[in-house]
Amino acid sequence: MKSINKINLALIPTPLEICNFENKKFIIKRDDLTGCELSGNKIRKLEYLLHDAKKKKADIIFTCGGEQSNHARAVTLAAKRLGLNTKLFLWGKEKSNYSGNLFLSKMCGAEIKFLNKREFDNVNEIMFKDSQLLKKRNGLNAYVIPEGGANVIGSYGYFNFVSELSSQTDLNKLDGIVVAAGSGGTAAGILAALSKSNYKTKVIVVNVLYDAETIRNKILNLAKALINEFNIDVHLSVDKLIVLDGYSTEGYKKINQDKIKLIKKFASESGILFDPAYTGKAFYAYYHNFLKKDLGMKYLFVHTGGLFGIFGREKEYIL
Ligand SMILES: Cc1ncc(COP(=O)(O)O)c(C=O)c1O
Repeated sequence: MKSINKINLALIPTPLEICNFENKKFIIKRDDLTGCELSGNKIRKLEYLLHDAKKKKADIIFTCGGEQSNHARAVTLAAKRLGLNTKLFLWGKEKSNYSGNLFLSKMCGAEIKFLNKREFDNVNEIMFKDSQLLKKRNGLNAYVIPEGGANVIGSYGYFNFVSELSSQTDLNKLDGIVVAAGSGGTAAGILAALSKSNYKTKVIVVNVLYDAETIRNKILNLAKALINEFNIDVHLSVDKLIVLDGYSTEGYKKINQDKIKLIKKFASESGILFDPAYTGKAFYAYYHNFLKKDLGMKYLFVHTGGLFGIFGREKEYIL
């Protein structure tokens, strides 16, 4: 098996905690604690991606996402630590007031280009053309990171996550690892690693951005590509991937009041905060499918961060 180098950015291993909610215990992996400003799942991917960028002598990092993208903010801050600038291609509109992740990216000097939904559907092409132009006009090298850092290099960070987890708990006793899926890169890394093992553990994803079939295909294709790229001696276990669909029907940029109520209740009892786009929706699915049935010690919940997404949405939360 091939391996690649990384730059150390994340505070890992992250803690594995037993939580108690409504008198039911469950296991939570605190990947929201990978760092303060850099918090969340993106950093495990960026350790590898930014190492690659440096190796390829990048002058600037290009990436994309929603206007409140955790990924775009994490890329901006992590790149700054390495002395690199960023250009973000965000699905949204120019604002008079920046908040949350967008505020942090702007504050740290990211150049931001807003795209409408139609343009964003072609964002990879737009980033590619822009990078060619930059090279031609200024002789600068742009390193392009896809949405959510979802390529084989980024997902390798979550391939390694499974060995970290197995050093903290006996995976034979876990039936499932439940995690939010946006681009699918996190789940793809976990799936490839679970396929390599003899564990019966499944990766159960809550799709917040793409429909069930699209996210399933994205995760399977990326996990296959990861296995090929790194010569991992394994066949992908397709049946170790389960999509828990129907928990983002209000749309990626919205969250309904039932979910906000649960986020608030959980936060006020545990002191642990979930975000409105990813972990809040994933936890709502986890709560209804596993926790309420007292299956929380067999199904682990991965807290992937995203806290800054709450800011700017205070009004929805105090209703
Ligand atoms: C807080 C948070 N959780 C989960 C995800 C989903 O991760 P992935 O894009 O790897 O599916 C993201 C990013 O997209 C995120 O920002």
